[in-house]
Amino acid sequence: MPLPQDFLDEVHDRNEIVDVISSYVQLKKAGRLYRGLCPFHTEKTPSFTVYPDTQNYYCFGCGNGGDVITFIKNYENLDYIDAVRLLCDRSGLRFPEDAGDREDNLKKRILEANRLAARFFFETLKSDEGLEARKYLKRRGLSDETITRFGIGYAPDSWDKLKNYLKSKGFTENELVEGSLCGRSQRGNCFDFFRSRVMFPVIDVRGQVVAFSGRTMGSDTRKYVNTKDTPVFRKSRIIFGLNFAKNSGTKRAILVEGQMDVISLHQAGFTDAVATLGTAITDEHAKLLSRYVDEVLVCYDSDAPGQKATRRAIDTLRPTGLPVRVISLEGGKDPDEIIREKGASAFRAALDKATGSIEYELLRARRNVDIDTQDGKVSYLNSAVSILSRCSSPTEREVWASQVSSETGVEKQTILSSVQRSIRQKIKQEKQKQEKELPASITGKYHLKPYEREKVGSVSAEHRLVAAVFLNPDYAKKVSELVSGNDFISVETGSLFDQIVSQINEGTFNGYSSLSQTLTTQQNALLSGILADNNGVGFSTEDTDYYVSKIVESRDRNKLEVRSADPDQLMKALKNRKGK
Ligand code: UTP
Ligand code: MN
Repeated sequence: MPLPQDFLDEVHDRNEIVDVISSYVQLKKAGRLYRGLCPFHTEKTPSFTVYPDTQNYYCFGCGNGGDVITFIKNYENLDYIDAVRLLCDRSGLRFPEDAGDREDNLKKRILEANRLAARFFFETLKSDEGLEARKYLKRRGLSDETITRFGIGYAPDSWDKLKNYLKSKGFTENELVEGSLCGRSQRGNCFDFFRSRVMFPVIDVRGQVVAFSGRTMGSDTRKYVNTKDTPVFRKSRIIFGLNFAKNSGTKRAILVEGQMDVISLHQAGFTDAVATLGTAITDEHAKLLSRYVDEVLVCYDSDAPGQKATRRAIDTLRPTGLPVRVISLEGGKDPDEIIREKGASAFRAALDKATGSIEYELLRARRNVDIDTQDGKVSYLNSAVSILSRCSSPTEREVWASQVSSETGVEKQTILSSVQRSIRQKIKQEKQKQEKELPASITGKYHLKPYEREKVGSVSAEHRLVAAVFLNPDYAKKVSELVSGNDFISVETGSLFDQIVSQINEGTFNGYSSLSQTLTTQQNALLSGILADNNGVGFSTEDTDYYVSKIVESRDRNKLEVRSADPDQLMKALKNRKGK
């Protein structure tokens, strides 16, 4: 069911786009516009633009664009309804009940099944069946309080206990399979997905149980098994422990490898520990973290894979601008082992010695070479220059350049100018890359009708006409008597035009606010691109007449050509079109 228009207007009114986006992206005012670094692709020079007048945004680098709801959708990886919900929460609006029910229903059912399953596992842990698991958790030093806090449970050694329990609560086998609480055999039999495992509920920042991670207690040699991706869970997006860490008051996250490490750390008082779930950190994880914390302390294993993961975490976190430090633990132990064997104070000591990511990378680079040889020195200097070019401030650069200078005997100024050169080069490369990508992102966006690919003139007439009616709804009536989207060369632009005009003619048009619900993601980006290209243009009725004439002219020529084309050529043209 679509959301009521006056409600959507209210959402847009209360969530001014510059205001909303400012809390995610640092924006600088440039005339009537705002610019910043695009959160949807990596860039060094800002091509992400926000237009307060039309209440939309557009990135000239990657083509992402739309209204405030689209921004939230894309940034937070939410569907339309959840994006609107978030904006409601943000601005104290009440979300109309039962709207958007259909698409939400399965998600709701899965979340409810998960909640009940968590309770089932928790109760089972306390029952006779859970005796071994309880002993195990005790051996691992977890208190009852911790077990309750994290809702740790036990999945019994059974193929159907959970299934039967949830079916008795009204869930269908399909729902249980969709939610990954049950699996389905090739013969179609439905069975409990987690068996004989200690169960850790995975809770998102909204406090919902979105998944489980189960540690083996029985014969299964897979140590941990996690919920498969479901409509409410994607492991590339979830951070274990963030639901607690975000309220820890430290504005910091200690990123560790496993959920047992998170739990041990929390029990020892480090309530800002978090972990990804059996996967390396992704861009989405990094973005999520950056919403809640101001610093990340990476504490992975000290072995080779751990070091590789640390480097990767530093690289992945860099675009967020979050400062990263690295905690090194002695003797190849994980945080859980350190705390159990040496106590919280040992971990605290390691934390206090955490090194900044630049320092960490320099240390690693130096370890890899013999700095006493000429070759080693050169190779270290090269790595150092590249590492220093990632410093976030000139001061930081100065500090580390001094160190590298004293390590190598090369003058600090020489090092700094190499770093400068390297930075300039990187910016240049980035720019070139963007310029190369730009035409592709534009041409790739429009789906041209046959015979017309080369006639860019009428394509831009179409764009301008869309912008003109969007900005001057009073032109729409006359224009729509002369042309319709069918006459457009670009199918997408045509459909965009039709939607805008029909809303205007029905009297429901209210800029982006009334369009946001009906436009596809692609159309949303297209419209924002068009508005961005035509920003500040004042359209007269003579202008629109001219665009209309261009469009009509090209349509009629098109018809003629199609009629006079010989069948073979027509087939060829059609094939070409399909291949596009
Ligand atoms: P570890 O093997 O380091 O486990 O895996 P751990 O946390 O020290 O576990 P304990 O102390 O033996 O209980 C680290 C993380 O990698 C993921 C899990 O998220 C785990 O917490 N993992 C590990 C899996 O997803 N599957 C596995 O089979 C093993
Ligand atoms: Mn461990």
